[in-house]
Amino acid sequence: SSAAIQRAESLIVSIPDHPQPGVTFRDVMPLIADAGALRAVVEEMLRPFAGQYDVIAGVEARGFVLGGVAAGLAGKGMLPIRKEGKLPRPAGREEYALEYGTAAVEIQADVPAGTRILLIDDVLATGGTLAASVALTRSLGLEPVGITTLMELDALGGRSKLGDIPVHTVFHE
Ligand code: PRP
Ligand code: HPA
Repeated sequence: SSAAIQRAESLIVSIPDHPQPGVTFRDVMPLIADAGALRAVVEEMLRPFAGQYDVIAGVEARGFVLGGVAAGLAGKGMLPIRKEGKLPRPAGREEYALEYGTAAVEIQADVPAGTRILLIDDVLATGGTLAASVALTRSLGLEPVGITTLMELDALGGRSKLGDIPVHTVFHE
């Protein structure tokens, strides 16, 4: 319900100077701790993509939590997208730019080529993580059909890095 969505937004906490000075970190864990808020936001994250995807890919770390809940609600399976070096059988790797230096994501692709993927994460900030995640799934012959996030930090312009894949977000800041 829209009341539950509104309450969910009030449960996101802004933490100044985390993980480094000058960054205001949106901590979604209080929302995730609340059963009604969690269910309402995940249902809203999935709504525009109903019938369009075969499996959910969640981006470490909070995308694992939201993606797991989403997979359960939707009756779908889930693929992990992790920071490099964590998965035992990475099928591919994609680098992306951080504010300083680079990082990389990896995926295990235990589904057939052509599988339609809905990508899930908590926050769309500069867009580097999700752009790399889209490229990673495409490089393996998977078909990313959409991105859904809980929050988008509009001022950082991350959406412009994502090409023309549909992007849905529940809360803008
Ligand atoms: C955060 C967030 C997204 C990403 C968004 O994760 O959960 O995955 O950053 O930023 P971007 O749009 O600028 O790429 P983080 O890298 O802090 O890692 P964590 O989930 O392991 O804490
Ligand atoms: N919260 C969570 N992840 C993030 C944020 C944030 O504020 N900014 C960039 N990634």
